[in-house]
Amino acid sequence: MTSVATPPRDRALPKDVQARLQSRFAAAAAQPAQTSESASASAMVQLSSVSKDYRNGAQALKNVNLQINRGDFLFVTGPSGAGKSTLLKLLYGQERPTAGEIVVNNQPLSKLRGNKLALLRRRIGVVFQDYKLIPRRTVSENVAFVLWAQGYTRKEIHRRLMPTLKMVGLQSKADCFPEQLSGGEQQRVSIARAVVGTPPLLLADEPTGNLDADNSWQVIKILQKLNSIGITVVITTHDEHIVRATEHPVVQIRNSSLRYVR
Ligand SMILES: Nc1ncnc2c1ncn2[C@@H]1O[C@H](COP(=O)(O)OP(=O)(O)OP(=O)(O)O)[C@@H](O)[C@H]1O
Ligand SMILES: [Mg+2]
Repeated sequence: MTSVATPPRDRALPKDVQARLQSRFAAAAAQPAQTSESASASAMVQLSSVSKDYRNGAQALKNVNLQINRGDFLFVTGPSGAGKSTLLKLLYGQERPTAGEIVVNNQPLSKLRGNKLALLRRRIGVVFQDYKLIPRRTVSENVAFVLWAQGYTRKEIHRRLMPTLKMVGLQSKADCFPEQLSGGEQQRVSIARAVVGTPPLLLADEPTGNLDADNSWQVIKILQKLNSIGITVVITTHDEHIVRATEHPVVQIRNSSLRYVR
């Protein structure tokens, strides 16, 4: 459990990096809307009467309605086992709802299979609590791998890599292996990997869960910077200090139900 008593240090994003990222995210976010007449144009995510029961009988979510607009920065809080990770998994299609409809970036997930689902997932950056870095690959390789797997050219990978590492403050660690990094640095690599493809939506599952107060704030500041240049951020957290020290909207999941808190 992290605790934060002091306000965050401001680590300004270099202006050239900010300008470049801003234009890329703007372009990514402006990609043409696909189908779904019911989806609101401003909604990045819409859940309508969504329930999720796992096969073993665990009911993770019950009749959840939620709209996350483009450009939002939303905290999802709630006790352990409440259904926070399940919510994120539903949003990027790792799990399917038992009932209800989910629309992400104007695409109804229930209608997406195979390639179409894979294409949507490319437009969603995911930061995992346990980082999921490839151990025998350097920081650069871990981040570049995502682009390489999506068929980006070497030139484009090169063009994106360093500004992204710079944004998370890891340009000097580009050639290090994950085991040579602190937990906070590994978490920042996982953020770089999630955003290097400039997705309009970023889902972060407990990104500060294993970090001390200072590192937690570094991560929050990075996510806020990404949000300030147009990316929609959804972050699950147990950390009441961080939630209270910021003014972002908050929803809470408790007993499988979701309510708006702030
Ligand atoms: N793959 C699964 N199979 C069966 N039950 C699951 C599965 N994943 C999660 N659950 C159950 O669903 C409920 C919600 O789990 P979830 O991981 O979404 O909680 P969480 O809010 O993220 O908790 P934490 O804060 O501990 O990460 C729990 O009761 C959990 O045991
Ligand atoms: Mg979880």
